[in-house]
Amino acid sequence: MTDHQGEFDSVTGRSTTGHEWDGIKELNTPLPRWWVITFYLTIIWAIGYWIVYPAWPLISSNTRGLLGYSTRANLAVELANLEALRGEKMAALAAAPLAEIEKDPALLALARAKGRTVFGDNCAPCHGSGAAGAKGYPNLNDDEWLWGGTLEQIMQTIQYGARSGHAKTHEGQMLAFGKDGVLKADEIVTVANYVRSLSGLSTRKGYDAARGAKIFADNCVACHGDGGKGNQELGAPNLTDQIWLYGSDEATLIETISQGRAGVMPAWEGRLDPATIKAMAVYVHSLGGGK
Ligand code: HEC
Ligand code: HEC
Repeated sequence: MTDHQGEFDSVTGRSTTGHEWDGIKELNTPLPRWWVITFYLTIIWAIGYWIVYPAWPLISSNTRGLLGYSTRANLAVELANLEALRGEKMAALAAAPLAEIEKDPALLALARAKGRTVFGDNCAPCHGSGAAGAKGYPNLNDDEWLWGGTLEQIMQTIQYGARSGHAKTHEGQMLAFGKDGVLKADEIVTVANYVRSLSGLSTRKGYDAARGAKIFADNCVACHGDGGKGNQELGAPNLTDQIWLYGSDEATLIETISQGRAGVMPAWEGRLDPATIKAMAVYVHSLGGGK
């Protein structure tokens, strides 16, 4: 592989390159033939590749190549195919009666998958990821339902919301007993302690249980029901089950009773298509607490 062929090296029986440093001579060791051939082949391959595939950057784009290959175009085609497939499935979901969806494993799986994604984008900001809820935002995994836990009731809440301003929304809200001057401050403290006693929590020293029961009967039973078991027609929570939307410490209860709360759940009709709303209802229903 070299032009300046040197002399013969008697020790190895090979020729040298003719280079010599301090008596050390360099043996002429040419690259193996297979290596050289492969090397030239890769160059030929690269040129072929430049011609058929997009390769060289130009000022604003790049050489397109004879095949017109583009990962972006491939992705667009794949997405379109997927969309069409999903569209068919979502149409099947839209057409199925709500009660039938959970009986059909394919539809149920689709509804749950769809529900999980849509939940993450639209509902998790309020209800938390995994629907575990937060103060004022109900946990959707438990058995406690403000507005009812059947599939139809859940669907209705999602579709029209609560205090959402939609014509069919769940209405009704607790009075602001303090702000509106219905109860005096000491009455509110007393009834707050009564509420604590309903779920077995400790009460303030000197608390008058009979007075608490009376205030509750006069002001609260109408919505929260006898014994404070709640009323789903009115969205009035069960006050005996140790599940709290806003909190059970005395200060929080006093605030709830004085100010009212009136949490707003938006209506999703018009924002999500009907098939997706169905999927959401099935998804929430299947989270564990559905009736
Ligand atoms: C802006 C905050 C917010 C968003 C977003 C939101 N919710 Fe709600 N949601 C609430 C509040 C607040 C309540 C409780 C309303 C009340 O106090 O009566 C609620 C109640 C509910 C209930 C009724 C729970 C019960 O105990 O009866 C369901 C079901 C529900 N949401 C599902 C969803 C789904 C599904 C989505 C997404 C499509 C969603 N929510 C998005 C705030 C939100
Ligand atoms: C007009 C119906 C109505 C009346 C009357 C009413 N409530 Fe409520 N109450 C509600 C509703 C509806 C909610 C849910 C609030 C929300 O979602 O924002 C609620 C929520 C509460 C909560 C919050 C529970 C939690 O889980 O954090 C407490 C505590 C409560 N009410 C106590 C009372 C007491 C005590 C009275 C009587 C002094 C009373 N309520 C009277 C409708 C009523």
